[in-house]
Amino acid sequence: MRRTIIAGNWKMHKTQAEASEFWQDFKSAIAETAESREVVLCVPCTSLGVMSKNLHGSAVKLGAQNLHWEESGAYTGEISGPMLVEYGISYVIVGHSERRQFFGETDQTVNFRLRAAQRYGFTPILCVGESKAQRDEGETETLIISQLRKGLKGVDLADLVIAYEPIWAIGTGYTCEAHEANRVIGVIRSVLDRPEISILYGGSVKPQNIDELMAQPEIDGALVGGASLDPQGFARIINYRT
Ligand code: PGA
Repeated sequence: MRRTIIAGNWKMHKTQAEASEFWQDFKSAIAETAESREVVLCVPCTSLGVMSKNLHGSAVKLGAQNLHWEESGAYTGEISGPMLVEYGISYVIVGHSERRQFFGETDQTVNFRLRAAQRYGFTPILCVGESKAQRDEGETETLIISQLRKGLKGVDLADLVIAYEPIWAIGTGYTCEAHEANRVIGVIRSVLDRPEISILYGGSVKPQNIDELMAQPEIDGALVGGASLDPQGFARIINYRT
């Protein structure tokens, strides 16, 4: 069944102390949020321990921002499935454009990571999206379909979330127009041919545009970067109005 999911991606932000401070303000701001809205916090590895304790007993789910496909080994700087299992995480972001752009992720490594996430019982949030140049060249659909085909080989579609994140809208303040985000997500849904998959929009989501985005029929939720760092602002996003 398609679920409403609002996930915060903290990227490389917040120390453990700052993460706990966020939580103190945030938990009261979402105390009235309907349970049908799944709230996820994808925090840096260093804050997984403290946030796993903080979130205990709450409906908010914990997520990581990446994982390696091997169980252990000589992979400096990486984190594995068994390490994440200890923190009780539910979700893991895979294939974020910043990983693809700055850390050499390819559709193939994205695929390895997706399959590893599912092996350890985490729901992967697969990010796909085009650059400004690709959009200008009219390559948006072809690129996204190729990212899906290659990334999803051997992946169980029954336990997966997709985030459509146009690269030109990430951290830039330029949101993809709600109707256009809706259109592209509709394309993704028809390619996957699995009506139950939740597909989120990501890229400069903020309190000012969430209501319009969530009013679109194809958009099931949001992956929120910068605006998830502020507890009140992120709570307003989660408590979007219909
Ligand atoms: P942004 O980031 O909300 O800061 O644009 C979104 C993301 O990268 O997931």
